Amino acid sequence: MRVLVTGGAGFIGANFVLQTLAERPDAQVTVLDSLTYAGNRESLDSVADRIDFVHGDIADLDLVDELVSGVDTVVHFAAESHNDNSLSDPWPFVQTNVIGTFSLLQAVRRYDVRYHHISTDEVYGDLELDDPERFTESTPYNPSSPYSSTKASSDLLVRAWTRSFGVRATISNCSNNYGPFQHVEKFIPRQITNLIDGVRPRLYGSGTNVRDWIHVDDHNRAVWAILDRGRIGQTYLIGADGELDNRAVVQMLLAEFGRESDDFDFVTDRAGHDLRYAIDSTLLRTELGWEPQFHDFRDGLAATVQWYRENESWWRRRKEAVEHAYAAQGERTLPQP
Ligand code: NAD
Ligand code: DAU
Repeated sequence: MRVLVTGGAGFIGANFVLQTLAERPDAQVTVLDSLTYAGNRESLDSVADRIDFVHGDIADLDLVDELVSGVDTVVHFAAESHNDNSLSDPWPFVQTNVIGTFSLLQAVRRYDVRYHHISTDEVYGDLELDDPERFTESTPYNPSSPYSSTKASSDLLVRAWTRSFGVRATISNCSNNYGPFQHVEKFIPRQITNLIDGVRPRLYGSGTNVRDWIHVDDHNRAVWAILDRGRIGQTYLIGADGELDNRAVVQMLLAEFGRESDDFDFVTDRAGHDLRYAIDSTLLRTELGWEPQFHDFRDGLAATVQWYRENESWWRRRKEAVEHAYAAQGERTLPQP
């Protein structure tokens, strides 16, 4: 199978490439990545001689046309992915997430190539803390941020190209991922690298927002289950029943570093901050037989901490720029409530 992986130098895409080459010896992988601030070619060092790496933009119609003409399958991870950045500068989100997806859809349509679209649970908006319901494949779209609205837009393009042009597409909407190779701007790696540096973790608002955590390898195994056995035109939600509030995650990290459970700061909240995400992944489990392999979040988190301890050279150069950007966006420490 010849697979084009967009965004393969990013967090989830790189883990997908590594897992694919480890578990599917017959796969020929081409990575298309424009190496934005979030892309890191070093994540693919261990497989550099087994992949074709193309440094380019998914919105480049000619390049995409040429690459798609030579593969059987496209798995589309590339995106601007960080909510905070989408609030300070939304344009790259529209350009990459919407126009970039359009460019891929036109090419897979032309060459009748199988297409899998990686999306997010954020397209469904957020839930109240005490809402007994979780997101399902039929929850109405209600995105809150520039990031999630561009992801929702791209999902709608995929649905339209499937129905109108017969594109052989599937979509997956996954919850929050954690694991190795995640950029230090994101919540968990930011707090781990703060703790390595002796800096207190930083919680937005009151720390009560809930995310539904899943290990990146479980996400990527679900993507393969969909590629292997998914129904064309179907959306599958991916989640591992991992709901935790942000404060609980920080306190697990503090325990991992042998620090007191109140040794963190509250900082300025994110504008429009979604309260809670929660995934019901019954369809994926019953129809495709997928089950998560990481059952203990605390163990997965400890392994992730260990990875950041052992791979400082991978993240150190980016850490200062990230903290500078947060300060420039106006992040301030708040009085303890
Ligand atoms: P990331 O920011 O770590 O990586 C994105 C990658 O895309 C980078 O390598 C970047 O260089 C590349 N890229 C960006 N713009 C590009 C362009 N125009 N052309 C080519 N490459 C480009 O993101 P991630 O966290 O790995 O997320 C991957 C996908 O998964 C995204 O579509 C995201 O919406 C989705 N997703 C992420 C999560 C999560 O928890 N991180 C959860 C659900 C869904
Ligand atoms: O739900 C899936 C989404 O998860 C993906 O679509 C996004 O690409 C991915 O970035 C992630 O979005 P979040 O906004 O949930 O992730 P982030 O890591 O930015 O923040 C997680 C939670 O932690 C959120 O409630 C904000 C909070 N937070 C974040 C940072 C960076 C803090 O409290 N402190 C922080 O320093």
